[in-house]
Amino acid sequence: MNNIIGVVDSGLGGLLVLEALKSAYPHHHYIYIGDQLHAPYGDCTKDELLQYGMTILEYFYHRQVQDVVIACNTLCANALIDLQDAYPNMRIHGIIDATCLQLKGISKKNILVLATHATVQKHAYRDTLKKIVDANVWELACPKLVPMIEANEEEDALKKVLEDYLEPYIGNVDAVILGCTHYPIIAKHIQNILQVDVFDSNQAIIHELPFHNDKGQGKLEIYTTKDAERMHDQIKTIIKKDYLVSKLKLD
Ligand code: DGL
Repeated sequence: MNNIIGVVDSGLGGLLVLEALKSAYPHHHYIYIGDQLHAPYGDCTKDELLQYGMTILEYFYHRQVQDVVIACNTLCANALIDLQDAYPNMRIHGIIDATCLQLKGISKKNILVLATHATVQKHAYRDTLKKIVDANVWELACPKLVPMIEANEEEDALKKVLEDYLEPYIGNVDAVILGCTHYPIIAKHIQNILQVDVFDSNQAIIHELPFHNDKGQGKLEIYTTKDAERMHDQIKTIIKKDYLVSKLKLD
């Protein structure tokens, strides 16, 4: 029987990681949780993030999930090791190492990492990249982006905010890492402004996972901790998928 794979994020961003996983390993059973009740995670403290992560992992544990993908950089940066220690019988995979490893052997000298405030504060990307590449690394917190992406904000408003964030880096960096799983949704605008190579977590994680592509009926369950109808509509509009979404009460 194929593994049950749990995937978690604060909301929509991790769905792009899920889509990549589903394409690579279509026969598995996926349980996705978007913890929209507590989003944005980027504004949370480490203690809050740990508490939310533990609650979700406890649910996965009771559902007999064997592999968990933390499709959220903020949770990885702040709580991955604690979660792995707390649940030694589940394989809990982070995404930051895999994302950074894509830059191994590529000659980039000035790398900009865009992430949430709580990820930047931990310097998770800077510290990981320093072990992999010889480059200058800037980490920029972009706290306005996640709420705008979840609200499907008008393109012009989004572009204006991005230009304000990115203006100091135009012409000064040669690679950008999207260190928040929500940002690939707006990657084309980031690419248009900076005109450099953009790296995200979506494909990176696939090669890190020990899954086999066994046969079997794939299955998908999607949960939000907030409003199921709203998340269904968000996924339809923003990710262009018509998925059944159910509400999950965890607290
Ligand atoms: N998508 C998440 C991340 O990768 C969290 C975004 C948020 O809720 O602030 O960091």
